[in-house]
Amino acid sequence: MQPRQIRDRVQWMGAVDWNRRLFDSLIPLPDGTSYNAYLVRGSKKTALLDSVDPTMEPILMAQLANVPDVHYVVSHHAEQDHSGAIPAVLQKYPGAQLVCTPKAKEMLVDHLHVQADRIRTVDDGETISLGDRTLQFVHTPWVHWPETMVTFLPEDKVLFTCDFFGSHLSTSDLYAGENPYVWEAAKRYYAEIMMPFRKTIQNNLKKVQNLAFDLIAPSHGPIYDKPNFILEAYKEWVSDRVSNLVLIPYISMHGSTETLVNHLVGSLAERGIKVQKFELSVTDLGKLAIALVDAATIVIGTPTVHLGPHPLIFSATHLANALRPKLRHAAIIGSYGWGTKAVEQISGLIPNLKVEVLGTVLCKGLPRAEDFAALDSLADKIKEKHSEI
Ligand code: FEO
Repeated sequence: MQPRQIRDRVQWMGAVDWNRRLFDSLIPLPDGTSYNAYLVRGSKKTALLDSVDPTMEPILMAQLANVPDVHYVVSHHAEQDHSGAIPAVLQKYPGAQLVCTPKAKEMLVDHLHVQADRIRTVDDGETISLGDRTLQFVHTPWVHWPETMVTFLPEDKVLFTCDFFGSHLSTSDLYAGENPYVWEAAKRYYAEIMMPFRKTIQNNLKKVQNLAFDLIAPSHGPIYDKPNFILEAYKEWVSDRVSNLVLIPYISMHGSTETLVNHLVGSLAERGIKVQKFELSVTDLGKLAIALVDAATIVIGTPTVHLGPHPLIFSATHLANALRPKLRHAAIIGSYGWGTKAVEQISGLIPNLKVEVLGTVLCKGLPRAEDFAALDSLADKIKEKHSEI
């Protein structure tokens, strides 16, 4: 794709990675992604903001073919999907300075072997003049690495945010508008990448909101031409509010745990509680992460394998713990053959979840009437707790 004009002096550059299906060899990308870079031409100097993933370097270099000079390369974030082509850009423009936060300097040297003497660090609030355009740098640590910052271009009212507000989405649309498809992708991105840093993001959100921008230009996904669309979404996601929602990630080997789960789903629904169940052998973990953004309660359903929970439960529970969602309550249900340590082992996996445990319902073999009654009591407890939300 050729560079695209977003302001008189600002161009989108970068690459749309339509076919990528996995990020960090971990995160599913059902809709691909993009690596957005931006070229800002002032009357005296030119700056390139971020680069692209190393796999897409030839695309960026082709876009720069007719750009005679770049004086500054701004690295908002040292992760390689944005910094990976910086060495090639610095080689093409031997006079260019690489601009980043003090924390990013060491990372760029370590991860990319950039020469330290090519790097200029900038403090929070510092500006660089391009002539009739100004780059104002705002430190926004932990979105989602410690070195991250954003750049404000006051003359054009554009905020360049790199990962912050991004979405893993491949599209030919330059702008997001108020597209619910973008909202879903941005929520998935927040859930998988940003949610562990929710408290820090609350502060960074307040900090950037004071800037007078009309466009938010992230380095993944489309540009927000209606910034409130994503700002309001982020305010809700990072808030301390939870919704009347129970998540049930579970697995079943011979049907007993599934029977328990299905009974609980019905029991909760009858009490006016929304439920999402996730059968973990077929679940897109991104969908589970999205649900974790708002849910008040998690109920883990597991059979017992060699006295402990099923391995897929280990994996999903580890994920939920790592993402540090707002969950307030938890419960464990499941079945076992002759003995179990599933509850003790699951409890040890979730130290980051500050949840009140509402109970456990474990049955030996096939569920009996008393097990269903115990599930109904658990649903009553959940209803009582959710009435306080
Ligand atoms: Fe898109 Fe944290 O890199």
